[in-house]
Amino acid sequence: MNDSPIVLRSIADTRNWSSEIRRSGTLGFVPTMGALHEGHAELMRVAARECGVVAVSIYVNPTQFGPKEDLGKYPRTFESDLELCRSVGVKAIFFPSDEIMYPHGREDFTAVEVPSLTTLFEGASRPGHFVGVATVVTKLFGIVQPDFSYFGRKDYQQWLVIKRMTEDLNLGVNLRRVDTVRESDGLAMSSRNRYLSADERASALGLSRSLKALENALATGETRVKPLEKCIMDVLGSDPGVQLDYARIVNADNLRELEVVETHIPESAVALIAARVGTTRLIDNLMLPPISGRTEIRA
Ligand code: PAF
Repeated sequence: MNDSPIVLRSIADTRNWSSEIRRSGTLGFVPTMGALHEGHAELMRVAARECGVVAVSIYVNPTQFGPKEDLGKYPRTFESDLELCRSVGVKAIFFPSDEIMYPHGREDFTAVEVPSLTTLFEGASRPGHFVGVATVVTKLFGIVQPDFSYFGRKDYQQWLVIKRMTEDLNLGVNLRRVDTVRESDGLAMSSRNRYLSADERASALGLSRSLKALENALATGETRVKPLEKCIMDVLGSDPGVQLDYARIVNADNLRELEVVETHIPESAVALIAARVGTTRLIDNLMLPPISGRTEIRA
């Protein structure tokens, strides 16, 4: 039975704890907004395998939510989050207040702006979102001071933005990307899945099904991006319960447009999807072509 993680609420306590750990070992860090699920647990397990000690942050970061988004109703489930962290052997949880993270207020803070990548896709649909993400992750890295930090591939664009920012600002944290964890029927795990009614969940499955259709089309030899994108749209467009925002196949490094998927370079492209199901915005993605022999979506 693992001990319950220590809960750190102040910056000074967190820095002291971290420097003590790093004196004799390696610290892995998983930043989260709580409402933890198996996808987060997988990040923590990978971190535990690679690092001696794992810390998690739980902070619903207000600056990454737009004015019409779900900040107020975002699930806050600290007790079950604590239990999940304990079950996978996390040693510490940084659990700050807004006052600690934004001492001069949420309108008046030094912001981190990552160029170009952030104007596309999620950045275009959710103005300001990536400034909030980049800023809070920079702050979290400065407070927790980890050796390694772990991010899920489900938020693919976020991963690229954090990678670029960490390189540009020489933050000195080694980043690791961990594959998306899916339900047995293919739905990508997300804290927002809990908002879905039974009917909406059935519609939400269209996202992973459309990626499966794409995977099959690529396997049968179609490499042109336009017909491959049409495979996604054919699945999602047939369900009135799904309002598609975008479905695009782009260069996996810089999100620029492609004409064909280079089938000899594994994971050189990425298919990105965002859609609204009811009032819930969902995203999913697939790396193309898959690493030899791998099938991501089984259902
Ligand atoms: O992916 C998330 O949960 C958040 O965007 C992150 C990285 C914890 C920053 O608030």
